[in-house]
Amino acid sequence: MNIAANPVVEADQTVYLKDYQKPSFLVESIDLDIQVYDDYTHVLSKLVMQRQTAGDLVLLGRDLELKSISLNGKPLSESEYKLDSEQLVIANAPEHAVIETQVIIHPESNTQLEGLYQAGGDLFVTQNEPEGFRKITFYPDRPDVLSVFTTRVEADKKFPVLLANGNLIEAGEAGSDRHYTIWQDPTKKPSYLFACVIGDLAVMKDHYVTSEGRNVALEIYAEEKDIPKCRIAMEALKHSMQWDEEHYGRAYDLDNYMIVATSAFNMGAMENKGLNIFNTSCVLADEEFTTDAAIMRVQSVIAHEYFHNWTGNRITCRDWFQLCLKEGLTVFRDQSFSEDLQSAAVQRIDDVAVLKGHQFPEDSGPLSHPPRPDHFVEINNFYTATVYEKGAEINRMMSTLLGREKFRAGTDEYFKRHDGQAVTVEDWVAALTAGSGIDLSAFLTWYNQPGTPKLEAQGEYDAAAKTYRLSFKQSLKTHPKYPNLKAVPIPVALALFNAETGEQLTLNSSVLFENGVKDGVYLFDQDQASIEFSGVEAKPVVSLLRNFSAPVNLDFNYSDEELAFLMQYETNGFNQWQAAQTLLERILLNDHASEIYVQAMQNTVPDLINKDPLLVSRLFDVPTEGYLGSRIDENYNPVLIQEKRNALLSQLALAFGGFCKETYLALDPDSQKEFSQAMGVRALKNIMLTMLARQGDTEAFDLAHQQYQSTGNMSERLGALRVLVWNDAPQAKATLEDFYARFKDEALSLDQWFMVQAAHPNATAETLAYLTSHSDYDLAVPNRIRSVSGGLNANPVNTWSFGVQHFIQLAKYLDEKNPIVGSRLLQALSRWYTLAEPQRSTVKTELEALKPQVKSKNVVETLNSMLNV
Ligand code: TRP
Ligand code: ZN
Repeated sequence: MNIAANPVVEADQTVYLKDYQKPSFLVESIDLDIQVYDDYTHVLSKLVMQRQTAGDLVLLGRDLELKSISLNGKPLSESEYKLDSEQLVIANAPEHAVIETQVIIHPESNTQLEGLYQAGGDLFVTQNEPEGFRKITFYPDRPDVLSVFTTRVEADKKFPVLLANGNLIEAGEAGSDRHYTIWQDPTKKPSYLFACVIGDLAVMKDHYVTSEGRNVALEIYAEEKDIPKCRIAMEALKHSMQWDEEHYGRAYDLDNYMIVATSAFNMGAMENKGLNIFNTSCVLADEEFTTDAAIMRVQSVIAHEYFHNWTGNRITCRDWFQLCLKEGLTVFRDQSFSEDLQSAAVQRIDDVAVLKGHQFPEDSGPLSHPPRPDHFVEINNFYTATVYEKGAEINRMMSTLLGREKFRAGTDEYFKRHDGQAVTVEDWVAALTAGSGIDLSAFLTWYNQPGTPKLEAQGEYDAAAKTYRLSFKQSLKTHPKYPNLKAVPIPVALALFNAETGEQLTLNSSVLFENGVKDGVYLFDQDQASIEFSGVEAKPVVSLLRNFSAPVNLDFNYSDEELAFLMQYETNGFNQWQAAQTLLERILLNDHASEIYVQAMQNTVPDLINKDPLLVSRLFDVPTEGYLGSRIDENYNPVLIQEKRNALLSQLALAFGGFCKETYLALDPDSQKEFSQAMGVRALKNIMLTMLARQGDTEAFDLAHQQYQSTGNMSERLGALRVLVWNDAPQAKATLEDFYARFKDEALSLDQWFMVQAAHPNATAETLAYLTSHSDYDLAVPNRIRSVSGGLNANPVNTWSFGVQHFIQLAKYLDEKNPIVGSRLLQALSRWYTLAEPQRSTVKTELEALKPQVKSKNVVETLNSMLNV
């Protein structure tokens, strides 16, 4: 035997959708007893299991120290089961099996923030989606195993708050220093929705009476000093509960709803049944400490997690390939909710900006995958913009096509058919089809294919016949892992305008799909097709993809003048914005002249400024350097893009001349009645201030300094600070110090302090070293890491120079400490291959050097995909 040549053959760890098999055992009930001590936690569990199909009894478990196990009351010896680092397998188990286990776990040293972990000195929380529960106890930890949970939680009395899902049925003492509670959750749920919390927290209480008459106790738990910052979240929660009753006929189903805030959290928030756990950044909101954008995000995440109660919890996913079933639908629902909080057009602009800024680049690079992938190595790597945002777009398209009433009939059918079940994307589309009476099965293709379709369109006017013909063509980039790409159904919302007067024409076409929505929607579902409008008196201007009716890359031969026309005359605010963005892309990427754009802004802005300041603030959006970079597939030179963009911004600022100062001085957020309008005015004021500084007017610094000093509002304070810091104003240093002194004990505000400095366009390796060695920088808190890394990444020029080592070192460190976050941060470098030489080769070499140094499935899978372009 040749021992020397004993290659370590890595088993292929890929999981495939096609291999799905039903679990051999179901769990009728689980009794958990979780006893937390300072240096370990003892977990006892009793599973009542029933055989469903042939096969071994499989319990998943990771990092568990097994103390004892019994089957139907009889202790099992080591020879009676097989145990490895991932699972415990009992062959030939009887039909009915009661399994009792005792394990020891170590939440106090769990840095991965998955399973049960200590989230600070006086708090323990859980995060079990997708596969964290197996780090708490042995269990068939998969979403198609639904069970009734009873949970006993025991800890030292220094942790007065002991929470778990469901109803509190008992509480008492456990010796002199310890106490316990017992909770019972009446609805069956998968293990990923299990949660418990052990801590010393304060609480804000309220209540809500549902349309069914249930009086629900609402509780938000946070640190004492943060309780006043929970008001906005509480209002948003009640609003969400009512919204889901009105729009989907869904009322809440338990007598209590609890939210717990922690700063030690990998993502935004988690929808555990009746006991959500939130990143503080998605709960705490207060004008003094939080920006307007963050306040909007808090409201939308509160809604998102609440909406999961029906789309995710009552009806869950059969397996993790179906993740976008719950996430895509729930994001669509929270986006619709947010459209009621501010102008619908601006909400759509913000959502599309995220889609185009994150999902489109993801879908055009090495990490591209379908909303429902058919294989993965590490499911945590698939909580992506594609699953969430593109998933939401698919639901939006179907809802656009059906119109409000039919869509509601479809969702009603879904809840009726599948309440209490773990289902698939096919089940969802079938229910929508059955309920609405309209066949939507073609939309399944959207779920199964990667890539952003390219939609080429052409318009032709026939003056003699007075007809206008639109021809469409769709195509998709080939993908090595997903061959057989097919045409997808693309709803194209469109309008025609009179080019002279700017008036919208009444559409006249026999093939136009009329569906009750205001805009005409044409369903284009072939490789090629065309439609014709008759009775068109003169060559019209067409506006396509109104409200971004489909997540595609539109290629239409607009003239720059037509885009300028749409900026001014489109009545759909979203498409005004979209026209500006298209024009800007041409200027910044294809060297079109900028005068037409600047003139269109000057024609559009002054009239609109009092009517809709929020929309105007968005019309000033200029695609970020990162977004522009993502549109370039080879020989990308970040410095060149930065120069062009800066030149355009300066030109715009100069063209607006005295208007900037006048408008800045005239705008008064305090005179606005609605939060959303005040938010718009604040945004606009900050834009005017930034433009003033770009004009080279140093009075801008005095105004900024004044604004900083006199305001109690974070958007105003931060907007002013940004102008000072990014322009290296004389007041910058002292103002940064002032900000630090004011907010050093407010973690989320301090994140902003880190972010502003990291996002300085002229930040250097020294800036970064200063920030990452600051005593308040903390690698155990993802929010803090993200504030610096996210700030840095606001300037691709910096990301692709000294930033490369920053991200690589972080990935290497987090590979062990927190691989979920490490893998996500590394993705900042995923478009390395588009860079011009020699940068491209430099980054490639550095990424390759990382390969032998990482071992988590998370980071390894991401790195392999990134290098495999
Ligand atoms: N299901 C959560 C949501 O979208 C997100 C989530 C998945 C999550 N895994 C997580 C949150 C891990 C925090 C940590 O609402
Ligand atoms: Zn979600």
